[in-house]
Amino acid sequence: MAIIGAGPAGLLLSQLLDLAGVESVVLERHSRAHVEARVRAGVLEDQFQELLRRAGVAARMDAHGQLHESVAIGRGGHSLRIDLKALTGRTVCIWGQTEVTRDLFAAREARGGAVLDEAEDVALHDIDSERPSVRYRRHGAEARLECDVIAGCDGFHGVSRRSVPEGRLETWELVYPFAWLGVLAETPPVSPELIYCGHERGFALCSMRSASLSRYYVQVTAGTDPTEWPDARFWDELRARLPAGAAARLVTGPSVEKSVAPLRSFVAAPLRHGRLFLAGDAGHIVPPTGAKGLNLAGSDVHYLSGALIGFYRDGDTAGLETYSDRALARVWKAQRFSWWMTRLLHRFDDDPPFERRLKQAEFDYLAGSPAAQAALAENYVGLPY
Ligand code: APR
Ligand code: PHB
Repeated sequence: MAIIGAGPAGLLLSQLLDLAGVESVVLERHSRAHVEARVRAGVLEDQFQELLRRAGVAARMDAHGQLHESVAIGRGGHSLRIDLKALTGRTVCIWGQTEVTRDLFAAREARGGAVLDEAEDVALHDIDSERPSVRYRRHGAEARLECDVIAGCDGFHGVSRRSVPEGRLETWELVYPFAWLGVLAETPPVSPELIYCGHERGFALCSMRSASLSRYYVQVTAGTDPTEWPDARFWDELRARLPAGAAARLVTGPSVEKSVAPLRSFVAAPLRHGRLFLAGDAGHIVPPTGAKGLNLAGSDVHYLSGALIGFYRDGDTAGLETYSDRALARVWKAQRFSWWMTRLLHRFDDDPPFERRLKQAEFDYLAGSPAAQAALAENYVGLPY
């Protein structure tokens, strides 16, 4: 097995395969230090937590992750609490993707797994055949890896999806005219629960990594340069978009990280071409509203690891044949949810007045209807695998 990309999808796949006796080599373009330092989202569905436990990489998450029983939706100064636990019987865990990645790297190292970082110019060959190969250059030396199967876990900008011949993948895409400016600050979070805020000035999100580390976002125009946003400007804008109570409680401080992330919805199908299988961001992207990106990488890896174990153990190809359909069925439902949350909570400058008024009605409906809240909650905690 060759696995392209050492993000959560690639590392988790190699770990689950190893535990079932299937050997793989992971090829990663960046250095391990670079991958481990990337700041990403951090809301884990309970099924993803279970997957990490199965992979033997959940000890720190279980010790230090925070279980959240609710999430707040802010709107025009008010806040609505969605009681995830009461509505679904389930919770989510706040534990950063950065930490998940560190634990996965450590676990691969402890088991002697091959994770080759700084692999340059990775190129996929003969993916239509039963003997595909991967060529790459590492520390100046050319190398070639022959394998049975390639898993493309190299994210949206990776080489795997682009290696599928022209015309063999169908794609759907929506690019939003705004981005999220994110700030990490060593301050206590403004609230014990996450707050997703819709506001006429634009969306804002209050999240966290721990009791002393906060993560905040505000909607900005696509292509914004973070240097246009000194800390003081960021805090003022965030405060202006929060419900009154949260605005009054907000503790500010110097940012320790600041970055702009574009918003995009994207799906490629099928997630397979010959002996190449795509998983995680390599096959689909969701906007971060709803925190589904990492969790979808998890469900893909759940389906794909099971299919590959069947193939290697028993020569059974049934799982590989159905992988794409099973994974995409869940992906599309998460696309729908992420798109819905994004539309509801962001400011769209070209929305006609009728749609703006409809959004107000949508909030009112959500506030007054346990059924509407239950629909949000069951998607937020994650639809079944
Ligand atoms: N060759 C080798 N490695 C590559 C290449 C390439 N040509 N291109 C990209 N990569 C590596 C990236 O450096 C990265 O480490 O593939 C990895 C892909 O990891 P992620 O982008 O984290 O994607 P994935 O593992 O699918 O995880 C999905 O991560 O990006 C977030 O929002 C996303 O939370 C979601 C999760
Ligand atoms: C985050 O903590 O970075 C985060 C949380 C929830 C989201 C997106 C990002 O929906």
